[in-house]
Amino acid sequence: MTLLDGKALSSKIKDEVKVEVEELIKEKNITPGLAVILVGSDAASATYVASKAKSCKNAGIHSEVHLKDESITQDELLQIIQGMNENPALDGILVQLPLPKHIDTTVILEAIDPLKDVDGFHPYNVGRMVSNLDSFLPATPFGVMRMFEEYSITLKGKNVCVIGSSDIVGKPMASLLINAKATVTVCNSSTKDLKAQTLASDIVVIAVGVPHLLTADMIKEGAVVIDVGINRLDTGKLTGDADFESCKEKASFITPVPGGVGPMTIGMLLKNTVKAAYLREKRESK
Ligand code: GUN
Repeated sequence: MTLLDGKALSSKIKDEVKVEVEELIKEKNITPGLAVILVGSDAASATYVASKAKSCKNAGIHSEVHLKDESITQDELLQIIQGMNENPALDGILVQLPLPKHIDTTVILEAIDPLKDVDGFHPYNVGRMVSNLDSFLPATPFGVMRMFEEYSITLKGKNVCVIGSSDIVGKPMASLLINAKATVTVCNSSTKDLKAQTLASDIVVIAVGVPHLLTADMIKEGAVVIDVGINRLDTGKLTGDADFESCKEKASFITPVPGGVGPMTIGMLLKNTVKAAYLREKRESK
């Protein structure tokens, strides 16, 4: 069994980004900029946002964190986004999800300039991704794809089971795998016989937020297990959606939690921000 070391790989990606940023500054006089908006005081979201800002700083990317009270109106938020769309110092805009219930997430995501949509959640980028055209890819599935590449895990012709069909992970993951010519099955909580699906799969990607849902009896010998789940147990310990201890005995490759997919996400967000800055430079130099 090989451990898919997201921590080490994300550190390599952050180093790559650092070099790309230095080049952009030196050759094009452009400092990439990212704005992150966090509404409300959810502790997990606050941790993610702080971590995104710190990683930007380390990579030489200008970052702004806009903390907004839970009571902010949708119109106020739209006005902030409009200002960011027009701000030439910002290449990327990220609205941390989930948003409070009184705000329509779709309206907010559609208000972001698609060329600054480093989360890849705008329907313009979603459509381009599904059509296998160049676009900003959502950071988590983008990170998983980079892991496959780095560990030379081929996807063409493989049976892949994606468990979970969220807009942030499951659906874009399935699209990227389809584009890579895998045979993809997407399961959800209504799936009749999940075990039958996972047992038939060479690769299982799980992102459901249920601790230890995937157990060793559900995977075939030599399967690749990608665990996107991060769950905090009552003991305070972090754990994934897969039962790591049992699955690792049967898997050929498996991601640990923590230290697997999680660290990759920020690395890919930084990549997207640099990409946005490159694209801006290309447009402006025309
Ligand atoms: N909440 C959980 N994951 C994400 C993400 O990738 N982007 C944003 N904006 N919010 C999230």
